[in-house]
Amino acid sequence: MNLSKLPVHVAIIMDGNGRWAKKRGLSRVHGHVEGVKRVEEIVRAAKEVGIKYLTLFAFSTENWRRPPEEVNFLMGLLKSYVESKRDEFLSNDIRFNAMGRLKRLPNEVYEAVKALMEDTRHCESLVVTLALNYGGRAEMVDAFKKLAKEVASGRIEPKQVDEELISKHLYCPWIPEPDLLIRTSGEMRISNFMLWQLSYTELYFTPTLWPDFTKEEFYKALEDYSRRERRFGGI
Ligand code: IPE
Ligand code: IPE
Ligand code: MG
Repeated sequence: MNLSKLPVHVAIIMDGNGRWAKKRGLSRVHGHVEGVKRVEEIVRAAKEVGIKYLTLFAFSTENWRRPPEEVNFLMGLLKSYVESKRDEFLSNDIRFNAMGRLKRLPNEVYEAVKALMEDTRHCESLVVTLALNYGGRAEMVDAFKKLAKEVASGRIEPKQVDEELISKHLYCPWIPEPDLLIRTSGEMRISNFMLWQLSYTELYFTPTLWPDFTKEEFYKALEDYSRRERRFGGI
């Protein structure tokens, strides 16, 4: 791999768990269980290769539309994942982070997420962010609300509103914008993920379903990225 062109921040829309299970005659939740194993594998692979930020879309603001049994199962998985990662993240200097409308998560999930964020706050080799109850539009709405309050209170002038100020009001202003976005399962859409931050991100779509997205598949995406020429509107 051409390591001189490694992305600093990789974001992933982990999709295809349900189809993976269906293909095997299993119920959808088996796909989610297998999907968690790939999360563990990709976090390790990212750390190994020197990625600094890994952001994983785990639950969208639209995913509440799924049957309650599936939503409950996902919340349970999430809680057990978060609770089981403390030692591994600490010993590997991995910071756990989450973004989204977190307070609307079931309370025990929210508490587990908050605890791991606090416990690993000092770690800095790799930041793993889970997007939970996350929507790109919801994030912008929340940012604009905060901005509107500051304008109303006179702390900022409307003419001060610019791209930088909007960026500073998003959920994680301290994280650079993604260099590479990977979406698995063959769908060619963004599904309301990081709409503001993806403006110049390189996109990588693969038909591989998330439970089949191994470390080798991840490195293939990184290799593909290393051959891209980014121009940002210049020449
Ligand atoms: C991605 O897999 C996991 C979540 C969205 C939580 P899906 O559950 O969307 O799987 P498909 O797309 O139905 O196959
Ligand atoms: C996007 O996948 C959300 C996550 C991966 C968490 P979806 O499966 O929800 O997206 P759509 O419905 O195919 O657009
Ligand atoms: Mg899907």
